[in-house]
Amino acid sequence: MKVTVVGAGNVGATCADVLAYREIANEIVLLDIKEGFAEGKALDIWQTSPVNQYDSKVIGSTNDYSKTKDSDVVVITSGLPRKPGMSRDDLIATNAGIVKTVTENIVKFSPNAIIIVVSNPLDVMTYCAFLHAKINPNKVFGMAGVLDTARYRAFLATELNVSPKDIQAVLMGGHGDTMVPLPRYTTVAGIPVTELIEENTLNEIIERTKFGGGEIVKLLGTSAWYAPGAAAAQMVEAIVRDQRRIFPVCAWLQGEYGLSNIYLGVPVILGKNGIEKIIELDLNDAEKTLLAESAEAVKSVMDVLDNMNASA
Ligand code: NAI
Ligand code: 2OP
Repeated sequence: MKVTVVGAGNVGATCADVLAYREIANEIVLLDIKEGFAEGKALDIWQTSPVNQYDSKVIGSTNDYSKTKDSDVVVITSGLPRKPGMSRDDLIATNAGIVKTVTENIVKFSPNAIIIVVSNPLDVMTYCAFLHAKINPNKVFGMAGVLDTARYRAFLATELNVSPKDIQAVLMGGHGDTMVPLPRYTTVAGIPVTELIEENTLNEIIERTKFGGGEIVKLLGTSAWYAPGAAAAQMVEAIVRDQRRIFPVCAWLQGEYGLSNIYLGVPVILGKNGIEKIIELDLNDAEKTLLAESAEAVKSVMDVLDNMNASA
């Protein structure tokens, strides 16, 4: 299996490293626009192979997409973080330009690839990739829910002082503070979390999860990469090993949850064809309201992109 990661920055390089040492793909191409950057990162990662005992190949490329030819999966992490003085619309315009070019190049050299978008703002960048890939939306989706759920599960594990492995959770909605963690669907080794953590504490954990990205930015001065890189690699693994894992994924909705023509985080089955099935949970009224609010927030950002495209 061949996997390309576009963007050799913090998230992209971490994702490539996890793909390599866990032997999720036997050929990994890391591509970046910055001269020599991807080659340097790829060389460094590959030099861990004797230490970490793996034989996946890791190759770097400065914007030469011919090296990505016939990739099975492509992860897009290229994009700029928001800088001081930059509006949200400026960021959308800049990153949409990057995601458009990258997507067109990917599809040209790997028409059958499954595309996982990581670049922010996540839901609208996934929509942007979909518009330019012109392929089945089951093969173009975004990574956010695996990361957001991982944060939620990690916080719960710390609170309960139990293994994070035993915590299962679902989270829906956009990648932002309107995300919808679902305590009703959160269990600890099969025990409903509501039986183990009192309501106020659980609500505090939910709030911390919603702002989990910002918490890291405050501490580091830049956004997270270990958990995002590992989360994207876990999605790649589900696809290349046809695991049919159930993950929250930013997916194109066509009537599911009463929503259409929108990319939004929902639980899906991920396998060799990408999104094999969107799972529709029987949400209660309060959960439906939160999801509708999140969808509205995402739609308003998608509209910004649509208006930019219309006036271009
Ligand atoms: P970074 O700045 O470390 O890396 C981005 C890389 O993209 C840079 O190396 C840059 O040279 C490259 N790049 C820019 N334009 C390019 C182009 N046209 N072609 C190829 N490469 C290009 O940023 P980092 O921390 O790796 O984050 C990457 C993106 O992922 C950001 O948009 C960030 O906000 C987003 N992110 C999303 C998360 C999620 O849950 N979806 C979580 C964490 C980050
Ligand atoms: C995160 O959630 C900023 O999207 C990035 O860490």
